[in-house]
Amino acid sequence: MTALVPLAGPSVGVTPYVYHQGRIQLYEDVGFTAGTQGLHYGTGVFEGIRAYWQPETAQLHVVRLAEHYRRFLASAGMLRLEIAESVDELCAATAELLVRNDYRGDCYLRPIAHKLALLPGASFGVKLSGLSTALSVYAVPMPRAPLSRSARAQVSSWRRIPDTALPAHGKITGSYANVALAVDEAESNGYDEAILLNVRGTVAEAGTANVFLVRDGHLITPHEGSDILAGITRRCVLEMAVRLGDRTVEREVARSELYTADEVFLTGTGCELLPVTEVDGRVVGDGRIGPVTARYAESYRAAVTGQASEYAPWSTTVQLNDPAN
Ligand SMILES: Cc1ncc(COP(=O)(O)O)c(C=O)c1O
Repeated sequence: MTALVPLAGPSVGVTPYVYHQGRIQLYEDVGFTAGTQGLHYGTGVFEGIRAYWQPETAQLHVVRLAEHYRRFLASAGMLRLEIAESVDELCAATAELLVRNDYRGDCYLRPIAHKLALLPGASFGVKLSGLSTALSVYAVPMPRAPLSRSARAQVSSWRRIPDTALPAHGKITGSYANVALAVDEAESNGYDEAILLNVRGTVAEAGTANVFLVRDGHLITPHEGSDILAGITRRCVLEMAVRLGDRTVEREVARSELYTADEVFLTGTGCELLPVTEVDGRVVGDGRIGPVTARYAESYRAAVTGQASEYAPWSTTVQLNDPAN
């Protein structure tokens, strides 16, 4: 198994190679200075992409890779980050990175682009132009979670930053201070997840996941104008619903609907489909993982791990050398 390089502490390792400034190099050789502009002002964008390991075929199945990079470039455009690579080139670089690392396990890819340094003649200060851009992609291990896990959520006292203040549809590093405050509050109060309302007081999303409610067999989720990131996993669920013949409704969702729903679950690349069994101390449904949530969580897992041929177009397969050959 590939030896991991310590990333942020003893419990998190990163695979040894990183794609950085157009080439694959050792993670340890990439350094940033205290003058890194994106660090000062939150002017960076990122993605989170999962790859699921299939030992039988020695392949990694990367989930909706091109779609993630399309969102990445769209986010980058909002901050005038100049990225030379096209979506196809980023996909190819990512596949090459996975091959080079030869990491044989489920992992999470983190592309990140941010303002790097002032260009000659540019003055010090908060801005989007007159700055160079850094782009890196690296991978960390992230095993798939057991389908039996669930979460208790608290509606946060922190509101989701409105799109009128910071683009909600961009994955902008600076906006995650909002998430960190909400997550910190929820965890301090003994909950697993925070659910944020928008400034209008309706449900927006969880810290890094979208919210779904199940009522009378229908799936309900806040619409894209609710100051949410339009999640790719959210889209997967909406597409699965079409195949499964379930009705979906994208609309404003009142906080109190979280208390009266039959089932609640979260969707995100990291959390996959996460059942919520309690909100603000109120039990959701009968307090167990509901049948609709369970069905979607199983279908999603089958889809992303190459077990369901109808969802094969979701995955980009990356072949590692099979040591048996
Ligand atoms: C704020 C926010 N909302 C929702 C999501 C879920 O998006 P996706 O399903 O594309 O991972 C994420 C994770 O990327 C997120 O950071």
